[in-house]
Parts: sequence; structure tokens; C-alpha cells
Amino acid sequence: MSSVEMGSMVKKRDIQALSRPIPTGKEIKISSQKMLVSKTNSKGVIIYGNENFVDISGYSESELIGTPHNILRHPDMPKAIFYLMWQRIRKGKNIMAVVKNLSKSGDHYWVTTDFDIRRDRDGKINSYMAFRQSAPKHVVDTIEKLYAKMLEIESEHSMDESLEYLDGYLEERGVDYDKFIEDLAAPKGISATFFKKMKEMFSRD
Ligand SMILES: Cc1cc2nc3c(=O)[nH]c(=O)nc-3n(C[C@H](O)[C@H](O)[C@H](O)COP(=O)(O)O)c2cc1C
Repeated sequence: MSSVEMGSMVKKRDIQALSRPIPTGKEIKISSQKMLVSKTNSKGVIIYGNENFVDISGYSESELIGTPHNILRHPDMPKAIFYLMWQRIRKGKNIMAVVKNLSKSGDHYWVTTDFDIRRDRDGKINSYMAFRQSAPKHVVDTIEKLYAKMLEIESEHSMDESLEYLDGYLEERGVDYDKFIEDLAAPKGISATFFKKMKEMFSRD
């Protein structure tokens, strides 16, 4: 792991200090060979980013480190997805999610994200790692429609209703969230092997 990591020395920066990019609608295509890795403290403040993660974000390493991870939040992402994600990882459980991220230029990129939960010697969660790989077009096509509907519900009603919509969507398909994402977006074949190896590599330190 490179010198980017700053661990607990990190100083929280006010995200408002960096102005929000305006989405351009232009997609950044990421090679499936690339893994975008970031690490946060227990509150979601970035403490590490690998080269791919930094490059694609468009921000400099120093802009990212010490900044809340929502610096990459795209306005097309439903709140409910992050709610589910946080609910799960706070309990120390993994979750896979398809996420649309906003780069500094306003362009966006779609990734499948997987987490790793890190604990201190007392078993208390002290950091989270996120491993991302580009999401294939068929995954984006499916998820984009679902997110658009959830977003519409969130803007006209509430996040609870968006979660209810998601429950109904999954029920209709006879699956739970994990099975849905696993079938749709989990890396398969060579891609899965690469994903696993990269996770193992980062788990060694
Ligand atoms: C390890 C880790 C990685 C994350 N990666 C992303 C990410 O790539 N994009 C993103 O929008 N949010 C990411 N988040 C979630 C953000 O912390 C935040 O919840 C989300 O952007 C929603 O922002 P909001 O809470 O201000 O609405 C990550 C959180 C953690 C713990």
C-alpha cells in the first residue's frame, strides 16, 4: 500500500470547501482490469485512495484525503442505497452495491462496490475499505431504471417510501437485495478471480 494512507492522523475537511461539480452526463469508461480502492475511517472520511481511485475521481490526493466520501456522490444516486449500505457495514457486514460516482469534472462512472470491514484489537470497527470495478452496461441499464424510480419517489415522497418500492421490486422477483445484486452485478469468471485476489492483497496489511 502506498504512502497515501494517513490513518488516524486525518483531519476532517469541510466538504463545502470544495464546490460541487455540475454533472455533464458524460460517462467515463473504466477498464475491467482496474480496481478502484479507497479506505475511510469509521465515519466515512477518506484516509486512503489507490492510484486508480484518485486518477478517475479527478481530484488530487490531497483534496481527497480528509474529505467525506460523499465528495463523489452523484445526484442520481438514491439516498436509500447509501442508507442500506451504512446500516449493513456499521454492523460489520458486507454489502455489494452498484454506484454512480461523480468526478471533479462532472463526468460520471459506474462501479460495482464491495466492502471490507476493519476492526481494532478490541473488535471495534475503525475503518472500511471499498473495492470497485467498472459495472458492465447490462448492469447499468437495469440499475439505472431502478434508481431513477427510487429517486423520483425520494423527491416526491420520502426515503422510507423509496425503500418500500425497493422491497416490492425485489419481492416481485422473488429475491432479497443480496441475491439480486449478486446475480446482476457480482464479478464472474476471470473478473471474480481478479477481484478476490485484489481484495486479498489489500487485506494483508
Ligand atoms: C468505504 C466507503 C466507501 C464509500 N464510497 C462511496 C463512493 O464511491 N461514492 C459515494 O457516493 N459514496 C460512497 N460512500 C458513502 C458515503 O459515505 C455517503 O454515505 C454517500 O455518498 C451519501 O452521501 P450523503 O450521506 O451525504 O447523502 C462510501 C462509504 C464508505 C464507508
